[in-house]
Parts: sequence; structure tokens; C-alpha cells
Amino acid sequence: MIMDKSFRIGNVLKSLRVRFFIIVFFTGLVSCLVMHSVILSSYEDRAVNVKSTEVQRQLRILANHLIVSNYLQDTSSEVINAEIDMLANLYEGRVIVINDDLKVVKDTYNISQGKTIISEEVVNCLKTGSKGTVSKYDSANGYIEVVTPIIESEVIEEEDVSVSGKTSEVVRGVLLTSASSDTIATTLEILSRRANILEVVIILSILIYAAVVAYLLLKPFDRITAAINDVKAGYTDEPIVGPNYIETEQIINAFNALLKRMKVLDDSRQEFVSNVSHELKTPITSMKVLADSLLAQDDVPNEVYREFMSDIGAEIDREDKIINDLLALVKMDKKASGLSISSVDVVALTEVVLKRLRPIARQHNIELTLESKRAITAEIDEVKISLVIMNLVENAIKYNKDEGWVRVELDADHQYFYVKVIDSGVGIPADSLDHIYERFYRVDKSRSREIGGTGLGLAIARNAVIMHRGTIDVESTPGEGTTFTMKIPLINSASAK
Ligand SMILES: Nc1ncnc2c1ncn2[C@@H]1O[C@H](COP(=O)(O)OP(=O)(O)OP(=O)(O)O)[C@@H](O)[C@H]1O
Ligand SMILES: [Mg+2]
Repeated sequence: MIMDKSFRIGNVLKSLRVRFFIIVFFTGLVSCLVMHSVILSSYEDRAVNVKSTEVQRQLRILANHLIVSNYLQDTSSEVINAEIDMLANLYEGRVIVINDDLKVVKDTYNISQGKTIISEEVVNCLKTGSKGTVSKYDSANGYIEVVTPIIESEVIEEEDVSVSGKTSEVVRGVLLTSASSDTIATTLEILSRRANILEVVIILSILIYAAVVAYLLLKPFDRITAAINDVKAGYTDEPIVGPNYIETEQIINAFNALLKRMKVLDDSRQEFVSNVSHELKTPITSMKVLADSLLAQDDVPNEVYREFMSDIGAEIDREDKIINDLLALVKMDKKASGLSISSVDVVALTEVVLKRLRPIARQHNIELTLESKRAITAEIDEVKISLVIMNLVENAIKYNKDEGWVRVELDADHQYFYVKVIDSGVGIPADSLDHIYERFYRVDKSRSREIGGTGLGLAIARNAVIMHRGTIDVESTPGEGTTFTMKIPLINSASAK
């Protein structure tokens, strides 16, 4: 149960929208709280500052009066006592007058009269004079403590001219005052309460704002997902539209490119299937026609029977060839890992292929020659490369003139070996050159079929070459001849790894 819960929370946090919401919300919240505390504490500083400066000023005035009325020696002055009490009342605090013997001369609380005070600030103030004015804020107990020296200025009368005439300061005592900071605390409280109310309002607004922003900003992603789902479900295969952000546009573009590729693949597959069905149907239709016409006649002569049967046999062979070629093609589609690589003598291999094709060449009175510039050993799949050379040379023989010639040239450099198949044949028109590697493509359908071609040979050959990371090129002049050039790496990079 607990695991399930934490798993779900993890899932929720994975949502970009939730994260976005959290980030916006917390940024707002934190800045709101920081502002709150900064404003309140700077108000407090300022208020305390103002208050202690004011108290200090009042105390300095009082100190002057104390000196003038010689209060430190004689505390009986009603006026000064009233002034001191008034000050204490004004600041809701306590005023203590201390003389230079650290004796308390007057305490508005009437507690410490006559006692000696040896607090550090008082002693320090007595020593340093006007520099010893100290204000201390005690926020916990709610008061500001101010220590002010009672200073008497004397005009120096000395013979030394440089010193004479100047005033010197004599510290006669210290005023120790505490002023209540309750008003500051009250204001702070009111401010803080208002700030809290404001804060709740602001936080609620941020909450709503963050939710709305997170929802709106990420909405385009929802739209993309919905559109992709439509395509997935098969309702449509139209490209997605609606550029919103650069990022979503990139996703849309990538998806549309993928969609286009899928369409191309789908189209080519459909075309392939319809071609295959058509090609497979032709021999069957012929067989059906031959068989029907045999059945329709009574007392068919033996020779006619034989002739028809041999025609049917030829059609079966044709069907068999197409199926075998298709199987070869399907096998080739399975990546380069399907190669069984070995070190092969390419010249010897070509000789074997040519030997097998010589009888057909002789039938058409075509001269078949091999020209090899050097010994060639390469890492290749022997069966597949033989198949390629076989297909090329077979084509060169099939699409040739009587009394023509076919020349196979072998060559190599340090990286590749080259097989050139040159013929004196019918040639290929320029606009067909781009299509001859397509499955079932034939330049002259009727002639090819008559010769027995299905248009798969070059497709198979090209696949095998690509599997070897090689290239195959063709040059042709109609009526004069065709040259196929195949280039294959000597070392197979897949096996080298
Ligand atoms: N050497 C050539 N000279 C002239 N045309 C050629 C030559 N090689 C190929 N072609 C043309 O290219 C087409 C495709 O060749 P491909 O080898 O793929 O098929 P095919 O020979 O007709 O049938 P298959 O090889 O499957 O028996 C041929 O039908 C032919 O029209
Ligand atoms: Mg062929």
C-alpha cells in the first residue's frame, strides 16, 4: 500500500506540468515570504533607530539641565525631578542618574537609590565621554536601553596658547534609561497581521496563477499527443499542424517526417505485394489456359499432349524461379549480420561463375571474356557475391545482340576491388537507369518476359552489394552497350570490429 502510494507520487512528479506548477508556485511563495520578513524587520530597525535617537536627544538636554542645576551634588531640585519623572513617564520606562562614583543619585523606580552600579556600559561611558553613548534594543523584553554621559564643558585657561581657549569635556555622571518599545511591537503586530492576510491572498492567487500557467503553457503538448493518438488509432494519416512553440514545432516536424516515411514504406510495400501477386498469377493463368484447352478437346494427339505438358512444365519452372528470387530478396533484407564472411579469391570465383554461364553465351553466339589485372583476395560472402556477378553477367548475355560480346574486368586498389561487366548489348534508356534496381522493374516488359526475366535480379544484386558496404553503378548507351561497375571493400568492416 505504502509502496503503491510512493510510486504514484513519483509518477505525478514526473509530469512536466506538475513540476512546472511546483516551480512557479514555490518561486512565488518564497519571494512572498522573503518580502514579508524583510519589510517587517527593516521597519523594526528603523523604528528602533528613530526612537533611540529621540531618547538620546532628550537625555542630552536633561544632562545639560542636570549640570546647570548641579543636580549630581544636590538632588532636591523640584524642577529637575519633575523633568526626570516626566521623561520616564513619556517613554514608559525608567531613568537612573549615576554620578562619577558609580552611585545612583536618582532612580525613577526608587529602588536603586544610593546603590553602586558597575555595569560595563556605565563604566565605559564614564571613561569615554560623548563617545560612550550606547543604545541597546532588547526585543524579547520590549525595551530600548540608552546610556548617555552627563558632560560638563570647561574652558581651558592655560599659558600654552595652543591649548588655551579650547573647551575640555569632563564626564560628571551617566544617565541610564530604558524606554519601552511596546509601541513598536504593537505596530509590528498590526503590520504583520495585515501582511499575513495579504500573503494568504497573494499565495492563493499564485496557486491559481501557477495552475493556469502550467495548464496553458503545456497545452500544445496535449494537442500533439491527441493528434498522434489519432494517427495511431488510424482515424487519419494527415500531417499534424499547429505550430505553437519552437519545441513543439520540432516534435511536430519530426513526427510528420516519420509519418511521411511510413507512408512511403507502406506505399512501396503495397506496390511490392501487388507486383508479386501479379507476377505469380501470370504463370498460373497460362497453366490454367493450357490445361483447359487440353481438357476441352477429346482424343488429343500424343504430341500435342506432350507439347502442352512441356509448356506447363516451363511455366512451373518460371513460377519456381520467381518464388526463389523472392525468397532470396527477403533473406537479403535482413541486415549485414546475415553475411557469412570468409577470405575469397575473387578471380577464381568469377571464373567459376563464367564457366557456368558459358553454355548460355554460346547459345547466343556471344563471346564471354575475363580480364584480371591482379590477384584479388577479399573478405566477402562468397555465395552472395557470386550471385551478384552471375546476375550481372546473365543480364549482359540476355540483353545482348547475337554475335555480341561480354567482357568482365577485375581490378583492385588497396581498399576496394572492382568488377566491371561490359556488354555490346541493347543498352538501357536514360530514363530507365534510375529504376532498374527496383523490384519487378523491366525496361521492355514483353521482351524481358519472353527472355524469362522477372525484374528481381538487379534488386537482389544491389541488396547484396549494399550488405557488403559496396556500391554498384551503371553507364549505358542505348544500341551500343552497358557497363555495370561494382565496388566492394576488400576488408569487411563488420567482421573487422
Ligand atoms: N546489361 C543490360 N543491358 C540492357 N538492359 C539491361 C541490362 N541489365 C539489365 N537490364 C534491364 O534492366 C531490367 C532489370 O534487370 P533485372 O536483372 O533486375 O531483371 P531481369 O533480368 O528482367 O529478371 P531476372 O534477373 O529477375 O531474371 C531488365 O529487365 C532489363 O530491361
Ligand atoms: Mg537479370
